[in-house]
Amino acid sequence: MKIAFIGYGQVGSPLADHLQRLGHQVTLAAHDANSESVKKALAWNANLNVAAPKDAVAGAEVVFLATFFQANEAALKAVAEELRGKILVDCTNPVGPNPSHGLNNVQSGSEMVQKLLPDTKVVKAFTIYGFENFEDSSYPGYNVKPVMMYCGNDSGAKKVVGELIAQLGWEPLDVGGLEQAANKVFHRTAIPLCHIAAGEL
Ligand SMILES: NC(=O)c1ccc[n+]([C@@H]2O[C@H](COP(=O)([O-])OP(=O)(O)OC[C@H]3O[C@@H](n4cnc5c(N)ncnc54)[C@H](OP(=O)(O)O)[C@@H]3O)[C@@H](O)[C@H]2O)c1
Repeated sequence: MKIAFIGYGQVGSPLADHLQRLGHQVTLAAHDANSESVKKALAWNANLNVAAPKDAVAGAEVVFLATFFQANEAALKAVAEELRGKILVDCTNPVGPNPSHGLNNVQSGSEMVQKLLPDTKVVKAFTIYGFENFEDSSYPGYNVKPVMMYCGNDSGAKKVVGELIAQLGWEPLDVGGLEQAANKVFHRTAIPLCHIAAGEL
């Protein structure tokens, strides 16, 4: 598939690298083509493409969002037209001070992203593990296949993202609509679910 990344830091880079190695055509939507993030991502995997955000998103079938939540609005507004009708995988967490839920648990971060982009199919995924697990999703020594929960309001988009999750080595678990992204269960059951997936519980 043709995949673009808005944000390619600790979370975006390993996912971009892994997807490229799986055979996908991956492009960094670079708001600054000379940034340290771009240099680090390319040093990691020289087969990643780099393009201006509008071009990268226009040419993609699936777009990953892996920016800091506070940067989302500006980053998304810049490519809102190009995102129409596309699948956006929201990897961001609305982290507030201390830390806290940056939207006071009134709505999920992904619902806010969906409101910004009503014509885009938003799917939340890749937020329940630390970035270290995106380079290598295996848990050697535990004999488990880790579960990746994901949610969204469009079943076709979720099917596509579920397949990408499986290709990346996770057991995909569809937990419902975007409102589920604010559910604490979404964030706190990853480890027990690893065991369920492995048939241990
Ligand atoms: N860290 C984790 O373990 C983890 C796990 C799951 C989810 N998350 C979530 O994933 C998101 C990214 O976290 P991270 O740790 O990967 O952060 P990070 O390493 O700081 O990367 C942030 C990325 O966003 C880009 N960016 C910043 N402002 C932008 C803008 N206006 N337009 C386009 N791109 C912009 C940065 O590019 P430049 O450097 O070029 O500006 C950088 O590539 C956060 O929402 C976080 O809550 C983090």
